[in-house]
Amino acid sequence: MPKNVSKKTFYVTTPIYYINAKPHIGHAYSTIVADVLARWHRNLGEETFFSVGTDEHGAKIAEASEKQGLPQKEFADIMSEKFRECWKLLNIQYDDLIRTTETRHKESVVSFMQELYKRKFIYQAEYEGWYCKGCEKFLTEKELVSGMCPDHKRPAEWIKEKNYFFKLKKFLPKIQQMICDGDMQIVPKKRENEVLSLLKQNLPDFSVSRQNVRWGIPLPFDPTQTIYVWVEALQNYISILVFSTTAAQQGERFQKFWPADVQIIGKEISKFHCIFWPALLLALALPLPKKFLVGGFFTFDGQKMSKSLGNVLAPKTLVERFGVDGTRFLLLSQFPYGEDGDIALAGCVERYNAHLADNVGNLVSRIGTMIQKYLQGRIETHPEKQIILEETNKSIEERFSALMARDQIQEALLSLFEASTKLNQHIEEVKPWKLAKTHPTILKQHLLSWSHTLHVIGRCLAPFLPNTGERIQRAFRGPEFQNPGILFPKIS
Ligand code: MSP
Repeated sequence: MPKNVSKKTFYVTTPIYYINAKPHIGHAYSTIVADVLARWHRNLGEETFFSVGTDEHGAKIAEASEKQGLPQKEFADIMSEKFRECWKLLNIQYDDLIRTTETRHKESVVSFMQELYKRKFIYQAEYEGWYCKGCEKFLTEKELVSGMCPDHKRPAEWIKEKNYFFKLKKFLPKIQQMICDGDMQIVPKKRENEVLSLLKQNLPDFSVSRQNVRWGIPLPFDPTQTIYVWVEALQNYISILVFSTTAAQQGERFQKFWPADVQIIGKEISKFHCIFWPALLLALALPLPKKFLVGGFFTFDGQKMSKSLGNVLAPKTLVERFGVDGTRFLLLSQFPYGEDGDIALAGCVERYNAHLADNVGNLVSRIGTMIQKYLQGRIETHPEKQIILEETNKSIEERFSALMARDQIQEALLSLFEASTKLNQHIEEVKPWKLAKTHPTILKQHLLSWSHTLHVIGRCLAPFLPNTGERIQRAFRGPEFQNPGILFPKIS
């Protein structure tokens, strides 16, 4: 059934985050990127669905709740709420948030697993291997460093249990073909190459259940086992759309929005998303996501953020210092999406001042002041008052849109700051204070054209810095100038 029957739709997802710890800027980063895409596509007039969620089952969460001395569900309620609050703080305009402990998720997952079993893609076998609770996955001998998980710096546990397995191997050639044909894109290219090389390694079938983890969804065909947390977590992307194998229970949302247009993930979870997830979908003959945008990892002041180092940066810390839009800017502007990067607090003050206070902030306030002084606050657009920079405005928007279409999110954002720098320079060259005395009519034309440019910049900026973008657009929409006040107070 074709997905886009009438209006074009756009479905974007974030990973659902583990709730064993509070949200940090790593989580904020991928969520803001998804928010930018969702807002951008809404502005393009597409019917957009933006999903977020929390990953609440499994051994890792059970362990964290035990440490807190709380029953698992109570712990999950408290922690999931912290993510919700964080998204509110960061002005994330998501459409729905799924929790894996919700009934709607469980029902969808049970229906999916039952169907896999019915179609004979699941078999039982004995399994043993090294398991890292931090990653919630089995590691190979080769991946261990002195018996420890290199990511979580904790000893892996030897586990031997009866498990149910999914016939992954059967689907690997098809997945490879879908990637190579561009039917399931993995961006950037180097992440695609990583996935393709994994596919060539003849991956073994993977376990879909756990024998000794009680905190999970019971396997419908053997309730002595729970569903492996990754297998149910991946299904959040369709459970939020009300997926069911029974047509009558299938949600309208699923019909409308699946397959996802963009799934935002981090590079460390690409094997699960770009191989295991498509394989599960293929087993039920469901369409595959169109694109994975795979983000890099960033360090904080040169170090990996970790609880043990005590350097986990909460989004709130940045917001208190730089404001919501300031924080969104600082996270998105430092390095291209897909690359690894570093967030250094010292550099943040400089970046904030240079780009926000001194560049765009200054431009808005100087043009606003001139409009009040020379145009008595009127931004009229009479036909005879030609827009001098019409071409420039067109190219600002075209360049920005082209970069967005190529998923060059950081570059698209920075292109607006380049435009703002150019306009600041242009004003210096034009010398409005002189023109006011010698050629007031020409100055008027310039001012109308500059406000138009700012309106364009505000419109493009809005998905990234929603409040700022809205204030700039309102200020220069005309016919009355609406003073936006100081957008970004300078920080010392
Ligand atoms: N629960 C799984 C995902 C299941 S999705 C079906 C999980 N959760 S997580 O809480 O560990 O979040 C991982 C994601 O958070 C990464 O893939 C990435 O998007 C984001 N980041 C976490 N730390 C990050 C950085 N230091 N830098 C950039 N992004 C980071 O894995």
